[in-house]
Amino acid sequence: MINIKAIRVMIVFLAALTIPSVSLADKKEDAKRLPPITNDLYRKECGACHFLYQPGLLPERSWIKIMDTLDKHFGEDASLDTAAKEEIKKYLAQNSAEKSAAKRSKKILSSIKSSSTPVRISETPYIQSKHRKIYKEVYKRESIKSIANCIACHKTADEGLYEDDNIEIPKK
Ligand code: HEC
Ligand code: HEC
Repeated sequence: MINIKAIRVMIVFLAALTIPSVSLADKKEDAKRLPPITNDLYRKECGACHFLYQPGLLPERSWIKIMDTLDKHFGEDASLDTAAKEEIKKYLAQNSAEKSAAKRSKKILSSIKSSSTPVRISETPYIQSKHRKIYKEVYKRESIKSIANCIACHKTADEGLYEDDNIEIPKK
């Protein structure tokens, strides 16, 4: 006769075994990948001119500075109405590098002096050091134009993945 109770105990035991391994895999994935963009207004307003940087690429104070100086945004006027500005600012602040479980976020953060508030991801010491071997001329190529154009070389940047294996520098 099949012992139902024994089977139940077995199922509970097996379920318990799988739980830790799943959450461990999740943790590993969280460490590898910058959390994806979840705010539609950010997507719409900030994606109009360039690649959508994940909020985990800069500290909170940097996002606040960027959002409070949109009228003088790298030579452009990127001003928004107060409601939109406040929503995006809140989203970026709540998902900044300090709140991210990604390894890159931690490295970017620890590379920045507490006295400095960079407004460019590309000028943070960690990102600078990672790109130090690239000749300046490379950024002038038609399909790249700037180091700020992460997705030109990092093919999976929009998924929050900046791994070495997903990089391809365009020849033109
Ligand atoms: C009107 C166009 C425009 C809009 C809209 C715009 N930006 Fe920009 N942004 C720029 C330009 C131009 C640069 C400089 C790019 C370069 O150096 O190649 C830039 C650069 C940046 C950088 C620095 C990139 C780096 O690491 O070098 C950040 C961060 C940034 N923008 C965030 C935002 C956010 C947040 C918004 C939405 C509130 C936004 N941008 C909307 C034009 C725009
Ligand atoms: C011209 C192409 C190019 C552009 C544009 C570019 N990168 Fe990179 N990036 C590279 C290359 C090549 C490497 C690997 C350098 C090495 O290993 O020596 C790299 C390395 C990195 C790394 C480290 C990856 C690792 O596995 O250690 C990060 C993180 C990164 N880039 C983020 C960015 C971000 C964020 C932007 C945009 C603000 C950006 N990159 C723009 C080419 C580029």
